[in-house]
Amino acid sequence: MEAQALPQERIRAKRDGRALDAAAIQSLVAGISDGTLSDAQVGALAMAIFLNGMSEAETVALTEAIRDSGEVLDWAGLDLPGPVIDKHSTGGVGDLVSLVLGPWVAACGGHVPMVSGRGLGHTGGTLDKLEAIPGYSVTPDTATFRRLVKEVGVAIVGQTGELAPADKRLYAVRDVTATVESLPLIVSSILGKKLACGLDALVMDVKTGSGAFMPTHSASVELAESIASVASRAGTRTTALVTDMSQPLASCAGNAVEVREAVRMLTGEGLDTRLHTVTRELAAELLLAGGLAADREAALARLDARLASGAAAERFARMVAGLGGPHDLLERPDSHLPEAPVKLAVTAERAGIVQSMDTRALGLAVVTLGGGRRSPGEAIDPAVGLGEIAALGAAVDAQRPLAVVHAASRADAEQAARAVRAAVTIGEADVTVPTLIQDVIRREVP
Ligand code: URA
Repeated sequence: MEAQALPQERIRAKRDGRALDAAAIQSLVAGISDGTLSDAQVGALAMAIFLNGMSEAETVALTEAIRDSGEVLDWAGLDLPGPVIDKHSTGGVGDLVSLVLGPWVAACGGHVPMVSGRGLGHTGGTLDKLEAIPGYSVTPDTATFRRLVKEVGVAIVGQTGELAPADKRLYAVRDVTATVESLPLIVSSILGKKLACGLDALVMDVKTGSGAFMPTHSASVELAESIASVASRAGTRTTALVTDMSQPLASCAGNAVEVREAVRMLTGEGLDTRLHTVTRELAAELLLAGGLAADREAALARLDARLASGAAAERFARMVAGLGGPHDLLERPDSHLPEAPVKLAVTAERAGIVQSMDTRALGLAVVTLGGGRRSPGEAIDPAVGLGEIAALGAAVDAQRPLAVVHAASRADAEQAARAVRAAVTIGEADVTVPTLIQDVIRREVP
């Protein structure tokens, strides 16, 4: 091996602020996947990237190498009549967009192979929510997954095969080497996994505000711009929206409670809410990027028609039944979804107007109730969570609570009630509620 081809020489180049070419990046990623790079070398590489950054060309090469490190889903043989498209979010609280958007976009002609994740930190996970539906399997065999994507247009599942194994190892090393918060590492990690699903187009929802993963609006915009540009340069037309997470997106947070909310929206209730607006805008961008609508107005008109006709609900019902869930979830959600034994209305210490929220703390209250995990692999309680969460700017008093806690016990409910009270600031002033859709960043494949 020539000296420059040694991994330590490539790490040295990055350490010294020099750019790596695509071949060097591919070779390093291959070493991450096959274990020929030691943990020490992976950590040193991550720190060199963290400290010196990467050019966009390097980030594209890293994304493509991570994407290609395992199976890349291939839909060509299925002769699909529409584009293969998907949405991904940086994670939020009360963010059940995926549950509604997948079937809604399928009803408009898209094919959505949505490979989702579990809750992370204070954020909820789509797979955990779907597992609140009795019988729903997030790990179908490949033939079932492909058949649903073809015939129903949507399947929301966990990882099939080995998608982007290089990311799994790199992420685990980053997690323990203080190198998570690096733009090129975050972008390539998110996109490496998502683009391995064989997408024609992607819409990314980058959250901003107190429940978001990025700390400031400008950091969220920077992430959104990088994701849209890098994904498009890697061949997948991508639009990124920066959306508000300074309060939970829906008025509930948890697992079964969020599935109930999805059913409500799909069956025509809960329209004109923040959840409806964000889901509709993301879906419209996806129809545009996937070539299913000529402009935003046409996309919105198509979406509205398919929601009103019940076509989106029908896709959801077929997906749930196709993955082992009940056939009548839409008609009788309460017969199937678990309900917590204790419900406690949390009133504010004084009447007033909701001024601000620590949305992250509300998400952590759900985790503490048992709706998320404290350690990997832990079982969760699908029934617990928060309902009727008061919105920013809402008036609260003895009759109008801050939220209703759904808990397994009275003691858990009281603990969560304290957390909710601490997370919400009440005052007298009128409140300017942040704009929901703050930025739209569209990028074409060059
Ligand atoms: N989510 C990911 O998948 N990777 C990151 O690096 C950060 C968030």
